[in-house]
Amino acid sequence: GTGTFFVGGNWKCNGTKESITKLVSDLNDAKLEADVDVVVAPPFPYIDQVKASLTDRIEISAQNSWVGKGGAFTGEISVEQLKDIGCKWVILGHSERRHIIGENNEFIGKKAAYALSQGLGVVACIGELLEEREAGKTFDVCFEQLKAFADAVPSWENIVIAYEPVWAIGTGKVATPLQAQEVHVAVRDWLKKNVSEEVASKTRIIYGGSVNGGNCADLAKQEDIDGFLVGGASLKGLNLQPLSILQ
Ligand code: G3H
Repeated sequence: GTGTFFVGGNWKCNGTKESITKLVSDLNDAKLEADVDVVVAPPFPYIDQVKASLTDRIEISAQNSWVGKGGAFTGEISVEQLKDIGCKWVILGHSERRHIIGENNEFIGKKAAYALSQGLGVVACIGELLEEREAGKTFDVCFEQLKAFADAVPSWENIVIAYEPVWAIGTGKVATPLQAQEVHVAVRDWLKKNVSEEVASKTRIIYGGSVNGGNCADLAKQEDIDGFLVGGASLKGLNLQPLSILQ
């Protein structure tokens, strides 16, 4: 793998003060491997609560951010505000924002550029729909999404790429280790040809889509899987214990 293993928990639009208090206390008690970056992405209203109660060992990500400097943008959350409350990361281009909210590549690229310019790390998500995979378009779709990030950002230093096949998200249908590895290696190759050899060798490419404690160890053994973005299972405490076998 590349760099320090990265495990992100994306809580999406879930939780209450009470359930999040419990989750934070479980995370504070968890024995985390020393050489794994652990990040959680709570819903906006709870970020402050999580920041105040969670161990500093775990960094905090937002699930979205406004495309530019804050101001008269009703309902949006600015990168400046996220930094002010202690966020280190923001997830951008998640399939739920692409396909449910309707964000496009160009808008997502701009968001990434702005977040990076203000010092936030970006978890840059890409991934194909089932119909795109079935039509043999997996690489085309992923490369187009990747290109939108590449065209917009000045540097890849603070970016983690998350490959999340949409058909695997929240479905319990995890990609096989080989299906994931095939795309991860293609993404790395794309970076090598279109950005630089250095960026290709240094950028972490993490997998997301129905990852849990039972399937994470086999996925993590793949050469180009450098971590995970976990949804559903992260609400149960990011219990990826089998990972410790690999360290
Ligand atoms: O951001 C996380 C992904 O969308 C994966 O979600 O683990 O519930 O499939 P999931």
